Amino acid sequence: MRTNNENQEFTMTAKTFHGLEEVLAFELKKIGAKNINKAKRAVYFEGDKSILYKSNLCLRTALRILKPISSFTAKSEHELYKKVKKIVWQKFIDLNDTFIVDTTISQSNFFNHSKYVSQKTKDAIVDQFRDKFGRRPSINRVNPKIRVNIHVRQSEITLSMDSSGDSLHKRGYRMHKVEAPINEVLAAGIILLSNWDKDDILKDPMCGSGTILIEAGMIAKNQAPNINRKNFSFQFWKDYDEQLFKKIKQELLNNETQLTRKIEGRDYHFASISATRTNLRQVNLLENVELKRFNFFDQKKNNPKRHIIFNPPYGERLEIKDPDFYSNLGVVLKDYYSKSVVWIITSDIEKVKLIGLKPSKKIQLFNGPLECNLLKYELYD
Ligand SMILES: C[S@@+](CC[C@H](N)C(=O)[O-])C[C@H]1O[C@@H](n2cnc3c(N)ncnc32)[C@H](O)[C@@H]1O
Repeated sequence: MRTNNENQEFTMTAKTFHGLEEVLAFELKKIGAKNINKAKRAVYFEGDKSILYKSNLCLRTALRILKPISSFTAKSEHELYKKVKKIVWQKFIDLNDTFIVDTTISQSNFFNHSKYVSQKTKDAIVDQFRDKFGRRPSINRVNPKIRVNIHVRQSEITLSMDSSGDSLHKRGYRMHKVEAPINEVLAAGIILLSNWDKDDILKDPMCGSGTILIEAGMIAKNQAPNINRKNFSFQFWKDYDEQLFKKIKQELLNNETQLTRKIEGRDYHFASISATRTNLRQVNLLENVELKRFNFFDQKKNNPKRHIIFNPPYGERLEIKDPDFYSNLGVVLKDYYSKSVVWIITSDIEKVKLIGLKPSKKIQLFNGPLECNLLKYELYD
């Protein structure tokens, strides 16, 4: 079924990690979104259906795109149930669909348990279907077609349709992982925050499964990060416009460019190099990355200018458990990368100071629940 007005504009919310709101707002501007407003771990914007589809396909720093359908106040589970039941759910969910309700409580004196809010909301939806049709859509926790999102802030409730389904960080290329891979959205966010000039060669000297290399390659080739994703939730919506979606995908493919300079990836583990190779192949970037097994501490000569981004091993593992890891890292950077700009993301906020270099920038970010610092070091001869 199509809506009458294809170009109708509506409000959307792009969710992201703390610290990436600014880059996400910039990305939204680039795809033509309007009335962009930054919030905490989210950016609000307006656009039509084509913006909804583009935001899912193209945004590198968004985790999911929500389309609000109703907001109201509720101070008890009973009130929540009654108000959810008033919404005409058959406009959004089909009897034969499977669905799930996700809840986020950002702060509330009225609701404490997100699971219970999800349960009450689900009950209201299925009870409405049962009352009207004698049947109800079923719940699928693993692979639901439709995701309803409920956000609670004090007594303010916002119900949205989640257009993405699986989180947008699941790009589908990470077939092989090594320990502690960085989240894809965070990796892309760091590259964008680092203002990488594509004329400079980007290097990840501890590349693990290659996430930073792959996100950088896709940025340089103007390749939409989710162009190869099998499905998004909006494809199960009643107003899904397949032709429009195909047209947008084709336009994005036509806009891809070639990479002029090879990106560089290094790691001293054979398994990491092999995982990176497999993952690069998934996104057609194998040709664009020069991969070598190399121990960062085995440098023998000065390196040419590079734009370096990496997340060294951290915490318990510190590979290593080598107390001199960070001080040695600082020495190698000083002695062998004197022309480069180096960005390091780490949750070892205290230990990283042992590098002994003064960061020219420090940005607080989160890798999931883990607080991290993104540090910039500008090295000179
Ligand atoms: C936290 S992981 C990097 C994860 C990576 N960003 C990803 O997304 O998969 C750290 C990596 O540093 C590598 N590493 C540790 N010490 C190294 C060294 N001296 N030289 C090169 N690589 C090293 C490890 O093998 C590991 O793959």
